[in-house]
Amino acid sequence: MSKRPYRVAVTRRIFPALIDELKESYDLVDNQADLSLAPEQLAERLADADGALITAGDRIDEPLLARCPRLKIVANIAVGYNNIDLAACTKLGVVATNTPDVLNEATADHAWALLLAAARRVCESGRWLRAGHWKRWEFEMFLGAELHGTTLGVIGMGRIGRAIARRAAGFSMRVAYHNRTRLPAEQEGGAIWATKEDLLRAADHLIVMVPYSRDTHHLIGAAELALMKPTAVLVNIARGGVVDDDALIDALKNGRLAAAGLDVFEDEPNLRRGFLELENAVLTPHIASSTRATRNAMARLAMRNLAETLAGRQPPSLLNPDVWQARRT
Ligand code: GLV
Repeated sequence: MSKRPYRVAVTRRIFPALIDELKESYDLVDNQADLSLAPEQLAERLADADGALITAGDRIDEPLLARCPRLKIVANIAVGYNNIDLAACTKLGVVATNTPDVLNEATADHAWALLLAAARRVCESGRWLRAGHWKRWEFEMFLGAELHGTTLGVIGMGRIGRAIARRAAGFSMRVAYHNRTRLPAEQEGGAIWATKEDLLRAADHLIVMVPYSRDTHHLIGAAELALMKPTAVLVNIARGGVVDDDALIDALKNGRLAAAGLDVFEDEPNLRRGFLELENAVLTPHIASSTRATRNAMARLAMRNLAETLAGRQPPSLLNPDVWQARRT
């Protein structure tokens, strides 16, 4: 009797060619209609799955896992994994994986896109032009912030932080960074470590790139914004909740901060209304890794994590190594 193929659920739409490929190996439950799945619907889809390709919006917690007795792996198509309760996965023998590295460069590019757009008022002046206001050139039109020759602060000098910092050389910018522990010299790439407070005071512009956790919740709040230069641009491409959005709106509204470039928000996609009224906020809908090549690489890495785990081999981006000996098979 031939063995039943593994059942795999894909929780959101991905490139059709990848779905076709997955169908060759698995009994596939896809969501190419891209329906938003409430927790109950997500649990129903995963209930009899052996593996799941999930995205950062899918909450994987103990109550859900308890309803999915066959589930052996949740493969996040994202590097951030604050949507997954890792302790619950380990407790219940479920492997969890993410997609590091393949998105470093695209995400770093987007951080710079936001920084440049916010500093040089690209979106604001574009909206003004489209509204038909451009009747004549003016000497003081949309004066922006200088980038070249200034100091870029990076909070969270991990893999993406370092890709961001490398790009600063092209703008002749100095880079200072803050991590809880200082990096070995060879990984600093000429960047200077500073305490968080010193960095906030010294940076002409600041990019935040730390994973979200209880420890990083509101890492940048009113007190931190008050330390920053009022001419600074703040970029958040980390996760909603790392920055206190209400405090940021207040600072942007009251000239405490020149501008912000934001790809992530608290309670996204329901962002605070205040953001929409701010001309000095450049807003994108959590797309920092969204190029065709990078999204493809992310999905492929997640597929590899899934395939290796189901074949009984340790996947390349295992998040909970403690599970391996006691994993569900
Ligand atoms: C995107 O936000 C990711 O974590 O990959």
